Amino acid sequence: MRIFASLSAALLVFASLTAAAQTPAAPQTQMVAQTPPMGWNSWNYFAEKVTDKDIRASADLIVSTGMKDAGYIYVNIDDTWEGERDASGVLHTNAKFPDMKALADYVHSKGLKIGIYSGPGPKTCAGFEGSLGHEQQDAELYARWGIDYLKYDLCSFIPAVMMKQAPNDKAEQMRIMIAAYDKMSKALKATGRPIVLSLCQYGWDAVWEWAPALGGNLWRTTGDISPHWDRIYSIASQQAGLESYAGSGHWNDPDMLEVGNGKLSLAENRTHFTLWAILAAPLLAGNDLTTMKPEIKAILTNRDVIAIDQDPLGRQGIRAYSDGEVEVWTRQLQGGAIAVAIVAAGDSRYSTHPFHLNLAKLGLHGQQAGKDLWTGKPITLTDNQPIEIESHDVLLVRIDAPR
Ligand code: GLA
Repeated sequence: MRIFASLSAALLVFASLTAAAQTPAAPQTQMVAQTPPMGWNSWNYFAEKVTDKDIRASADLIVSTGMKDAGYIYVNIDDTWEGERDASGVLHTNAKFPDMKALADYVHSKGLKIGIYSGPGPKTCAGFEGSLGHEQQDAELYARWGIDYLKYDLCSFIPAVMMKQAPNDKAEQMRIMIAAYDKMSKALKATGRPIVLSLCQYGWDAVWEWAPALGGNLWRTTGDISPHWDRIYSIASQQAGLESYAGSGHWNDPDMLEVGNGKLSLAENRTHFTLWAILAAPLLAGNDLTTMKPEIKAILTNRDVIAIDQDPLGRQGIRAYSDGEVEVWTRQLQGGAIAVAIVAAGDSRYSTHPFHLNLAKLGLHGQQAGKDLWTGKPITLTDNQPIEIESHDVLLVRIDAPR
């Protein structure tokens, strides 16, 4: 009996060793979001109008514009793809998305990955079918379709479950919310498919403190972004102090990019992208790629700036100091390098009184040789140097050997 038991144990070990040798890594052990996820999401431009055709066109353009080569990999469908559940509870797509499996295959055939959207409530934010009571079933459906990324948005779960179950107890409401995210995280893991989990609950209950432990790969830290400088800058400011929570596999998410949307000036687009890179933020473009202007493409595909965002050290940058309306952000990079972003956040500082750099406040001493990542030219930073930056613009410098 004992011999039989140890023999079968040995066979089991042998079988699993051979299996491990034949298959690549077991899906459960594959790591996702080792650097902040990069890609494109439908919401910020298409919102509720997005269709299968828009997703295919975006996938095509991500490849043909060079965005894929620059690192944009996830093509994410946001809200409004959902249809009705059938008698067995299986969720179907609506008429805008005739065949999700075929769409996923198409996106994969381009060497890209595909993302989808749902929420823990009965309805999504746009009032479509949510995952409440169908978490495992939905996770399995995503896996069958070949989905690689899920954005899970709280919305109707607040009134329908949290406030209903614990009307006068905020702390209990938060526990219910955390359990809902944990449930979907476990459901995704149980499918065996590596799927990035993006939490969207607007930063409630210091999400950065608990999301990594339940397997969240990124979490929104604020309410929604919009293509306006004040909103973008306010969101960036709210990231200061959250740097210690970010790291490989788990990132603060100041929301998707508005680069190329609305009436943002070129300077504002540049500064938005710079700040997201300093913040080690997910870079999910949200513009209409079919009408993307060359100067917007140049911002989104600036390899030097993307390299800051994707730096393998995975350290989120900090707001080092501010001098009135001018703010200096820095980010530690692999190999001892540092990125310095000087942001003219306001609009009432003029060349009569330019900003003067204080290197000591950055822990630097003497002349610093670097590269201006927006002009691509060498630049030397010196102490007390007067620096003129137009309103809402930025100077972004990479210093490889800081002193
Ligand atoms: C919320 C989210 C947005 C978007 C919409 C979709 O507002 O924060 O990013 O997903 O829902 O309805």
